[in-house]
Amino acid sequence: MADMVNKQIIIFKDIDDITDYVVRKWTEIAEKTVNEKGFFSVAISGGKTPATLFQKLAKEKKLPWNRTHVFMVDERFVPYQDEHNNYRMINELLLRHVNIPAKNIHPISTIVESPQASALKYEKELNSFFRSRPGFDLVLLGIGEDGHTASLFPRTPSLKEKKHSAIAVPPSGTIMSERITMTFPVIDNAENIMFMAEGPGKSGVIREVIENEKSRLPAALVRPGEGSLFYLLDEAAASLLSKK
Ligand code: 6PG
Repeated sequence: MADMVNKQIIIFKDIDDITDYVVRKWTEIAEKTVNEKGFFSVAISGGKTPATLFQKLAKEKKLPWNRTHVFMVDERFVPYQDEHNNYRMINELLLRHVNIPAKNIHPISTIVESPQASALKYEKELNSFFRSRPGFDLVLLGIGEDGHTASLFPRTPSLKEKKHSAIAVPPSGTIMSERITMTFPVIDNAENIMFMAEGPGKSGVIREVIENEKSRLPAALVRPGEGSLFYLLDEAAASLLSKK
């Protein structure tokens, strides 16, 4: 069957150009959705790649922050003070610099008794915010060199999760800490899904994810229903693609 996914692959000179593009798209989607339904919902990933984006967004004071709801795609089950806490990074680089009400920020709790309890709590929050199946206006994703995205790792049961919106992921292999992650049904139900990838270390996995239709790598399993899928790559990450 032909690939019906609305997929766009855009290659930029560097991360600076990628993030300029994402700021423009974020602005466009936020303004449109606030006009149409009164709010804009976005889920953001951790990792190093989005740091520049968060710093740029922090300067966009005119965005409709009071109508923007920020959720986390995933989180490491470590305290806020830990340098690996995703919410800490997003808060320090972006959220505390803009006029967003506290009630619009939806971190994944790491102060409950277990990652499982945290996942359940987050699932309840997602379900009550969206009142039905969570459907984000925008989901920002990264890709690991092993093909993981969010905290959905290769060959783990998390890839088959269909029922829950958020699940706990135990440590294994290269995953050092326990994590909580959104699942494919939530990611795939978004209007816009944007992968950002930079650097030569990602070139192999990018080729596999984009060009191998049979790939079982988690990043390759992201399949938006009605929404649009963007791969925003710098030249180094795109360097092994056969068609450019
Ligand atoms: C996280 C993520 C994860 C990340 C990739 C890419 O919290 O770590 O959500 O999926 O996006 O590992 O990470 P880099 O941007 O650091 O390459």
